[in-house]
Amino acid sequence: MSAGAIIGIAIAAIVVLAAVLFLTAVRRQDVRGAGALSRETRRRDKAATRAAEAPETKEVPATLGALVKASSLPPAPFTPPDPELVAVTRRQFFNRANVALMNVGLGGFGLAVIAFLWPKAGGGFGGKINAGKVDDILANIEANSGFFYVPEARTWMTHYPKEALRKAETVYSESELAGMRVGLVALSQKCPHLGCRVPDCKSSQWFECQCHGSQYNRVGEKKAGPAPRGMDRHPIEVSNGVAVINTGININGPAIGTNTTGQEAEGPHCVSAAGGH
Ligand code: FES
Repeated sequence: MSAGAIIGIAIAAIVVLAAVLFLTAVRRQDVRGAGALSRETRRRDKAATRAAEAPETKEVPATLGALVKASSLPPAPFTPPDPELVAVTRRQFFNRANVALMNVGLGGFGLAVIAFLWPKAGGGFGGKINAGKVDDILANIEANSGFFYVPEARTWMTHYPKEALRKAETVYSESELAGMRVGLVALSQKCPHLGCRVPDCKSSQWFECQCHGSQYNRVGEKKAGPAPRGMDRHPIEVSNGVAVINTGININGPAIGTNTTGQEAEGPHCVSAAGGH
């Protein structure tokens, strides 16, 4: 074979090899353009697949590791916490404040109820009220045309005639008679019908209720109207000539028909017995 033929064959081989390389490169370019993954992407995918297929292992947290180690140690002796250092949460604070306020409120309410219900030892309505000397009271009754009002006791005081005492002893209790024996009765201002304040009537010298027309004589015995009994009264305690009204005790008025003094109306009525003003 001549040298020219050998050179021609070598050139042809180089051209063929270059063509093969060129075609291979072009093909790869075509495949990538159709959506194939890059080498880098495929490498990452492979790593992810290997990690997913590997058996699952969990990392033990450092604190749990410490606990596991600590559990093997003997228990430490208990030391009570210092109350000064124990913190109070906001929830605890509000809970305790609510309970404390509720207790204070209930305590105050309870004390108010007890104070309201407790009989007063002295002074003020509900207790014993010093009305003054018997002679002064009788003088005041006369000066006020037969009626003397004691506002602290919410009570009318009137004169009880001595000549009616024998009859009174058949009707009234000893606590009522104590005042009558010194010439006094203490009558509650509250009408026994429905509780209106009963005013005096100077013209008739009776008590005449303006609400529904109940009428009572000067010592509180019922004369007319819808009231179920005479005027209620309080005991009078007399000591050294001084009269004390015990407003802590309310004695129901005498029954309808009681008329120990025989006092009739001494003038025009202030209200009609048929139904008040
Ligand atoms: S309240 Fe006095 S008569 Fe009715």
